[in-house]
Amino acid sequence: MIQELPKISTSLFPKSDFPNLLTAVNGQALAYLDSAASAQKPHAATEATTAFVEHQYANVHRGVHTLSQLATDAYELVRDQVKVVLNAADRNEIIFTKGCTESINLVAQSFARPLLQPGDEILLTELEHHSNIVPWQLAAEASGAKVIAARIHDNGELDLEDFKAKLNSRTKIVAFTHISNALGTILPAKEMTEMAHAFGATVLIDGAQSGPHAAIDVQEIGADFYVLSIHKMYGPTGVGVLYGKLNLLEAMPPYQGGGSMIRSVSFEETTFAELPAKFEAGTPNIAGVVGLGATLDYIAGPNWNRDSWVRRVTEIGNYEAVVREYGVSQLAEIEGLSVYGDAEEMAGIISFTLKTVHPHDLGTILDQHGVAVRAGHHCCQPLMKRLGVPATARASIAAYNDLEDMDRLASAVIAAKEIFA
Ligand code: ALA
Repeated sequence: MIQELPKISTSLFPKSDFPNLLTAVNGQALAYLDSAASAQKPHAATEATTAFVEHQYANVHRGVHTLSQLATDAYELVRDQVKVVLNAADRNEIIFTKGCTESINLVAQSFARPLLQPGDEILLTELEHHSNIVPWQLAAEASGAKVIAARIHDNGELDLEDFKAKLNSRTKIVAFTHISNALGTILPAKEMTEMAHAFGATVLIDGAQSGPHAAIDVQEIGADFYVLSIHKMYGPTGVGVLYGKLNLLEAMPPYQGGGSMIRSVSFEETTFAELPAKFEAGTPNIAGVVGLGATLDYIAGPNWNRDSWVRRVTEIGNYEAVVREYGVSQLAEIEGLSVYGDAEEMAGIISFTLKTVHPHDLGTILDQHGVAVRAGHHCCQPLMKRLGVPATARASIAAYNDLEDMDRLASAVIAAKEIFA
């Protein structure tokens, strides 16, 4: 049963800016704690996207007519904005894809697969999401290379000594998450990149969970590739970003063939367009990319620049840390509840289990209380195995969550515990 509720907000992003947060679920106000799976969308951005679709829309990069030029300008403007978000050196280093997963597969197939030789190694970590494991396994199987993973400590922190020990002259690719989706651990991306570079390895960083929660500077980190998931940044689904260093992207063959990515085509020979078009075959998700631009404007306010973007996302990260800390302190009061992940650097994720209640049952009961969490392996089966649990319940925090959401979470968990007592 979905119904409108009064608009109440104490969060950093007003809940009233996100229409879906004002719906009631099972007769209760919604406490949405599943933004790591997908974040809710601000009305300002969906409205701006609709206005674009209704008044400015046409295909991009093809037409000489006015609407096509307007649409192309709107689409390309967002590339400039993403360049600022990541602090890339060149706008041609920003490729739009259909998601973070596609961005990683692109690099695995187009960069890694031709490079890898039998016996080469791809170093990951035990924290990785399946989308940062399986694409590398596919590339490894095709080339005779091997996928290995650096261990974590019991608190979810990366074992840097093990990471270092596993780097060697056979390591060709190092791929790791910036923020663990399952535990919230923030990895020392710059230090790890420097360590990998010392062995001549190429580094891809999975930024699916970092985009909306931390300032990212690909040049400072030194990342060779960095990928973003836009629907987790309050933006539309079906859009991802691949950042790659210009010289690497220039040397890579196209990932997909089609319209827009060519210079000339004949049956004898095809030559390819320059970056970024070379990697954007077919009509892209035009409305999605424009929606991303509107979302960035919502996050950072009008006329934002690198400085104001960094200030804003730092503020968001700090705010979410406070909400998390409060949430953990409330949950810690509940006997039989274990929180997984206690690294020195943590983002707004609380992964937990409750003795005697399976996470799936817990998630279902929380839903009856209007509290939306994810329950399961979080697409991290190797990590669950490492932690010795089949699944956890996960509350993930965004800038529209507040302390009351944490209270709601804790009371719903207590209610679930009573049912199973
Ligand atoms: N990767 C997303 C999550 O962690 C779907 O829930």
